[in-house]
Amino acid sequence: AKVAVLISGTGSNMAALLYASRREDCPYEIVLVGSNDPAAKGLKLAEAEGVATFALPHKGMKRAEHDAAMEAAVLKAGADYIALAGYMRILSPEFVSRWEGHMLNIHPSLLPKYKGLDTHARAMEAGDSHAGCSVHLVTAELDDGPVLGQTPVAILPGDTPETLAGRVLYAEHQLYSRTLEDLVSRPFSADWLLEKVGALAL
Ligand code: GRF
Repeated sequence: AKVAVLISGTGSNMAALLYASRREDCPYEIVLVGSNDPAAKGLKLAEAEGVATFALPHKGMKRAEHDAAMEAAVLKAGADYIALAGYMRILSPEFVSRWEGHMLNIHPSLLPKYKGLDTHARAMEAGDSHAGCSVHLVTAELDDGPVLGQTPVAILPGDTPETLAGRVLYAEHQLYSRTLEDLVSRPFSADWLLEKVGALAL
């Protein structure tokens, strides 16, 4: 399978997906790393590793317009899956519905708990014993959609949201590639391909 990864920042999850894909029997390859921020650190890493990149600032653009440009780059790269990895943009419902079942996101909480931002601080304030991360299929609602995998991470005495976030990241890096591998190894969906071909013809 060919995967486009969309990032806005550091790109450590993107790096984890990329290096996991270098294993000979990995069922996916990264064909594009795209970003809404040309300064995103992960872009430089992707370039250095020989992966195509695409960056387009969203400032001054309508959401639908920016999404369309992103999607065009993804399609041009030949991707059949999209992995959001710290992509800090809400995608338009049209974009999301076209990629239904083929677009994943990683979120730093044990969903359905703590959608949105500041997940670790919220888990700590609530007195939870564990924080964690989830990989889910992207649907129109933010951080919603079927959860495909989760890893709980213990909250330690003396943790700050930052120390906890650092530990959750270790878990994210393991979980994301494993879940993506599982998803792309599912039986081929002819319905999805037919829809996609229809969308391309427009
Ligand atoms: C991760 O914690 C991810 O769960 C969240 O944004 C962060 C991205 O980190 N959606 P990185 O850019 O992958 O290092």
